[in-house]
Amino acid sequence: MLGKFSYCNPTKLYFGEDALSHLREELPKYGKNVMLTYGGGSIKKNGIYDQVLFVLREHGKEIFEDGGVMPNPTVEKLYEGCRIARENHVDLILAVGGGSVADYAKAVSVSAYCEEDPWEKYYVRMEDVGNEIIPVGVVLTMVGTGSEMNGGAVITNPEAKMKIGHVFGENVFPKFAILNPRFTYSLPGYQMRAGFFDIMSHILEQYFSGEDDNTSDYIMEGLLRSLIHSTRVAVEEPENYEARSNIMWTATWALNTLVAQGKSTDWMVHMIGQAVGAYTNATHGMTLSAVSIPYYRYIMPDGLAKFARYAINVWGVRPDGKTQEQIAEEGLQAMEGYMREIGVVMNLAELGVTEEMIPGIVAATLPMTGGYRAMAPEDIEAVLKKSL
Ligand code: NZQ
Ligand code: ZN
Repeated sequence: MLGKFSYCNPTKLYFGEDALSHLREELPKYGKNVMLTYGGGSIKKNGIYDQVLFVLREHGKEIFEDGGVMPNPTVEKLYEGCRIARENHVDLILAVGGGSVADYAKAVSVSAYCEEDPWEKYYVRMEDVGNEIIPVGVVLTMVGTGSEMNGGAVITNPEAKMKIGHVFGENVFPKFAILNPRFTYSLPGYQMRAGFFDIMSHILEQYFSGEDDNTSDYIMEGLLRSLIHSTRVAVEEPENYEARSNIMWTATWALNTLVAQGKSTDWMVHMIGQAVGAYTNATHGMTLSAVSIPYYRYIMPDGLAKFARYAINVWGVRPDGKTQEQIAEEGLQAMEGYMREIGVVMNLAELGVTEEMIPGIVAATLPMTGGYRAMAPEDIEAVLKKSL
């Protein structure tokens, strides 16, 4: 491992079937005013809302509701949340939901007391936080993004057709996160599968980079093998606790910053996926699955040795007598077969992308340089066309 780094992850996690009971240990650490942030209502249907409200009331908290956070939260909603947080002198933002709710809560936490337009400051100019940050806690109900234990906060500006993530520092990570695998059982199949692929993509974005011998790559191969095994079980048996709990834990490790230490990372699939999201508002994980195979086939010649290693160590491809190209290609074929098996979206047309949108999507894609190939606009265009 050749990189230099310092590492700290300050989020306290409570995992398991009784995880919510630990909210009682956390609440006394914060003031009276709690902003209860959630999405479009799933938590009211599955009973999580009532359970959380009960604990908040038990602790005599003043509750300010901030529901209606949409998947792919918008900048308009962010402004609204900032108003609620500021006007009510909120001491804690409790985000109950998936990545969208957790990301949005973090965005509000850094924006409520920001004197400039937070979209311009954090998402256009990518500046650091210079003002008070409201603490965030998360009760996770959807698995995939890793937002429960990282500083990421992705916000969409539909008018500008931009979907941008700011990765904030440790001071913005959730102070605590509550992970009960059973809370994810009520997820619709489409969302569940999208989350499964999001996890895979997070790992691959960090795996396909670098040429050094790196501990993180070995960790990621293990995470991928666990993920492939457990997701196969979960699509057949969504209420298999062992599978859903392994997936939940893998999702957290996939993007809680650990495996990124000491190596460069790619993130081009996410940049393309986010641009697709800005144009279609499609489900995040499906924007990634639709472009992944064409993208990886496109860059494979630039990182052939790693792709062959991936085929052997993750997909069990037998190397005997084959060229590196053949081994790598068999690995990608195994991945594609797996994706079809778990039922994720395999092309952009299914998400509503048309040929005419492609120049706009190319322009909205932020190029990254940490992977095996620096993608020029024409490369991105080629991948998008192959993904249609
Ligand atoms: O809004 P409600 O009614 O709660 O319904 C949600 C939403 O419609 C539903 N859902 C969540 N938990 C449920 C449930 N339905 C029934 N039962 C439950 N237990 O699922 C739908 C999708 O939720 P959402 O939070 O949007 O999904 P996800 O967790 O995939 O989050 C996506 C957002 O996270 C960003 C994405 O770009 C996107 O905006 N990301 C954040 C990252 C980070 N912080 O590091 C990294 C990721 O790569 C990603 O970019
Ligand atoms: Zn993702």
